[in-house]
Amino acid sequence: MTQAPTPVPKEPIVIGEIIARMTRSEKLGQLCIVDTPPAPFPDEFVESIRTGRIGAIMNLVEPDQVNELQRIAMEESRLGIPLLVARDVIHGFKTIFPIPLAQAASWDPDLVRECTRVAAHEAASTGVNWTFAPMIDISRDPRWGRIAESFGEDVHLTGVFARATVKGLQGENPAAFDTIAACAKHFAGYGASESGRDYNTTNIPENELRNVYLPPFRDAIEANVLSLMSSFGDLDGIPATANDHLMNTILRKEWGFEGVVVSDWEAVPQLGVHGLTADDKESAEQALRAGIDIEMASMTYARYASELIDEGRISEVQLDALVANVLRMKQRLGLFDKAQTDPAQFRTPGHSKHLDLAKRAAVRSMVLLKNENGRLPLRRENNRSIAVLGPLADEPNDQLGTWVFDGDPSLSVTPLQALRARLGEACEIRHARGLNTTRHRAQDGFAEAVDAAKSSDVALVFLGEEAILSGEAHCRADIGLPGNQAEFLRAVHETGTPVVLVLMTGRPLTLGDVIDYADAILLAWHPGTMAGPAIVDLLFGNENPSGKLPVTFPRAVGQIPLYYAHKITGRPPTPETVVRMEDVEKGLPQHAVGNTSFHLDVDPSPLFPFGYGLSYAQFEFKDPVLDTVEISTGDSLSISVTVTNTSDRYAGEEVVQLYVRDMVGSLTRPVRELKGFQRVHLDPGASARVTFRLTTDELAFYTRRKTIETEPGRFRVWVGADSTAQMGAEFILLP
Ligand code: GLC
Repeated sequence: MTQAPTPVPKEPIVIGEIIARMTRSEKLGQLCIVDTPPAPFPDEFVESIRTGRIGAIMNLVEPDQVNELQRIAMEESRLGIPLLVARDVIHGFKTIFPIPLAQAASWDPDLVRECTRVAAHEAASTGVNWTFAPMIDISRDPRWGRIAESFGEDVHLTGVFARATVKGLQGENPAAFDTIAACAKHFAGYGASESGRDYNTTNIPENELRNVYLPPFRDAIEANVLSLMSSFGDLDGIPATANDHLMNTILRKEWGFEGVVVSDWEAVPQLGVHGLTADDKESAEQALRAGIDIEMASMTYARYASELIDEGRISEVQLDALVANVLRMKQRLGLFDKAQTDPAQFRTPGHSKHLDLAKRAAVRSMVLLKNENGRLPLRRENNRSIAVLGPLADEPNDQLGTWVFDGDPSLSVTPLQALRARLGEACEIRHARGLNTTRHRAQDGFAEAVDAAKSSDVALVFLGEEAILSGEAHCRADIGLPGNQAEFLRAVHETGTPVVLVLMTGRPLTLGDVIDYADAILLAWHPGTMAGPAIVDLLFGNENPSGKLPVTFPRAVGQIPLYYAHKITGRPPTPETVVRMEDVEKGLPQHAVGNTSFHLDVDPSPLFPFGYGLSYAQFEFKDPVLDTVEISTGDSLSISVTVTNTSDRYAGEEVVQLYVRDMVGSLTRPVRELKGFQRVHLDPGASARVTFRLTTDELAFYTRRKTIETEPGRFRVWVGADSTAQMGAEFILLP
């Protein structure tokens, strides 16, 4: 495939000159994106493009049709303004990579950038030039189905992946033939939807908004993201799509963002459903005032903006500013020079380079949660017969996960297929679903599966959630294993055959009731096209697990929200003060020694903490050293530690994590926050000295003085393998 030359730009367009020539109808045409009707296209749709009343379309991925509509827009319309052509490319186009939550578990931004590079390449071949990714909502409620699309609970980690995905999608040159515009979403605070129920109310205090939900959008903007998408959510009483404070004061005035803001699907008329506006005309007015440049899927701008201008409620200057943002984005994408695609310039989906990358991403995103008695890796010589059980062992669609509009399941290699291909005749594979689906309650399939397990050396059990159980609008009030999977796993466990549980899921699950039924647990998430080969490589030791949790796994749904960077409260739980249900039954006095922050019926700690993940190797940390214990604002200090792979057999990678706590602030501060990480490869017995450099800028936060600044005082740092790391030291930031 030859690299297409970036077209030599014609005379650079002068946006102001184009706007000066535009009619009001043509201006409004730039401020809407419509869902493309099925071909053959209605005359009205084509005529709207020809007359400049539509400036952007979505959900058309047939290159000849896209090219024809671009031709009409550029050659038959009065001003020849090209179309934006959008599609949700959330974690791959035809070749599907692990869901974003899984990609975050790789703690490998370079890898994720490569994955989004390939996704953009495949999408651009169809004429798509804009996608609605990355989704960078901080997600601390696993009941929320869209946690699957997020990079998890942490501000720093999400910001790192925001940058990586924007760079992957847009490349260094957004006008290149195989790059597409990114869209950081959903601005802002969508992940705080109450009760984890999608589209629900979000009440976020300013300091929480500024210190938790907004920073990843700053990262995306610093990475030159060309667009943002407004959230559906009601943000403190004013839905984001009409929120002047968020969209104008912060995004445009404070941050100086000059890109495009697109509403989410019909979020403009939904302002009326929220009860913020009385009718669509007022919704249009409030969204225009908030600076929503492009209205998605609804047409309130087209219907009412002209009246609003004539009535003086929206000025022509305001209108022109929105149009300028849209034309600037098209200019930055090089669309005025070349808007049509040529599929012949692209690698075909399913290209080995794409599949190899999809497998590598799946391998590095999976997290080993449990491995008792070294059950894993499996040795072929000890496993001549393998029971492959459960409803997710052979599901080419479900392994792709949510948001896979164009994913090609014919490219999928399932775990069952990969096991058969890898083990061949050398091993007898006994496959039994046991359950028709993960939601299945009947036990009629148990007997076959139990028999298969009884007569096998090991049972590999594939359980979790189908893709449909996470993603947009697919939230769960109980996040245990659905259906009768726990019973099924117990039945297999009771055969006495060693059990390896492989979890496919779009969210953290509460596993307390099943964790004892498996000797080993591999969290595969929804790993994408190459799920099977990745899982088999990890189970048989061709690859060593290295993923780390980007999100906390609670013990019980009642603990939610439960995240590591929490506030300590005035009464933190301690082993001495936590009172358990059984203690109460002993008749402890009501004033009990407790009265600290805990639940009587579940331990306050998570089942698996943020940053956690096992390896076949073992890693030890020692000798933490700070190069100074006093710094002034503008300085930096280094923190170094020695990491040793104490395994005598397995090489592996450890994700060394740096956490910091600001001990005293003008606002209360989290008990610790991730400030850096490094993936380190170590051969058996090898050691490495890992050093982090921490600047005082990285200690800054939005303070009680309503500005982002560092505050002098005591800080503590920890370095280790997850968010429970205890090895650390203190330093002082001098006034
Ligand atoms: C959806 C989602 C948004 C997506 C858009 C277009 O409702 O909220 O993330 O990009 O519509 O499909």
